[in-house]
Amino acid sequence: MNIGTACGKIILFGEHAVVYGRPALAVPLSQLRARAVVQKGTGAGSVIHARDLGREVEVKDSENDDALGVITRLTLEKLGETENLEIEVSSQIPLASGFGSGAAISTAMVRGIAGYFGRELKPEEISALVYETEKMYHGTPSGIDNTVIAYEQPVRFVRGQEITRFQIARPFTLVIANTGIASPTKITVGDVRRGWEMDKARYEAMFDRVGEIVGEAQDALARGRNNLLGGLMTRNQEVLQELGVSSPEIERLIEAGLRAGARGGKLSGGGRGGNVIFYVEEGGGTERVRDGVMESGARSVIVTRVGE
Ligand code: PMV
Repeated sequence: MNIGTACGKIILFGEHAVVYGRPALAVPLSQLRARAVVQKGTGAGSVIHARDLGREVEVKDSENDDALGVITRLTLEKLGETENLEIEVSSQIPLASGFGSGAAISTAMVRGIAGYFGRELKPEEISALVYETEKMYHGTPSGIDNTVIAYEQPVRFVRGQEITRFQIARPFTLVIANTGIASPTKITVGDVRRGWEMDKARYEAMFDRVGEIVGEAQDALARGRNNLLGGLMTRNQEVLQELGVSSPEIERLIEAGLRAGARGGKLSGGGRGGNVIFYVEEGGGTERVRDGVMESGARSVIVTRVGE
């Protein structure tokens, strides 16, 4: 028996524009994890039990667009193994919320299966396998989720380029409020693509603005100038709103967080639901922000330290 786990992730800056070649910054959320327990199979083929998803998958009969079946097949192929397995998948990471739940489940499965055979795959190998399943969830994924989750490190991600870690000179507190609205990334990514196809110049200009914000944020983080982060989040949110991926629920939570003392906030991930993140200064009343967003309809709140 072997257990593989994987963290969730949160995008700090740069979602959507990252699909079009601009940089994005994302960090692992180590306290939220997916888990895959891998044991010797008892039947004629490998079986996956995913109770949280209400699914049981017979790998040999699974469709080519079934991520659980596909990641199992790809991992066994990569390892050159044919043994039948019984895999139990569970996850603390809310689905379709911008925490990278799909990539985390796939990563936990790859690690669990590799470990079962006494093997360890490199982060880049895991990331490449998981990317194949990301395509099923996201349509045209940038690859940011599988990268941050497979490396479990803060990552500056640019599509098609070597990944780099970014520096966080001074750790900071992030409040993450879940809207409770599941919003599949595939839909917002598709809508942004349709907008881009209709008016490329306008969309490219918006993506450039996001790229600049990401550059400034990276610089602020490297210099420990965390006081700039709130304003940068708010600027990034303005562009996300113009891209059409915000929503009244997101706006309401952002207003509530700012009223309660957060220095800036934005949606994180695909948008129209999922999570809103807030930068709260040291000693800046994290509890008040938590209470404020809960009173304004957040389903749940996570307070996390970034850069420790
Ligand atoms: O919704 P999430 O957190 O899985 O992230 C989506 C990020 C996008 O930039 C919107 C899409 C992508 O593939 O990068």
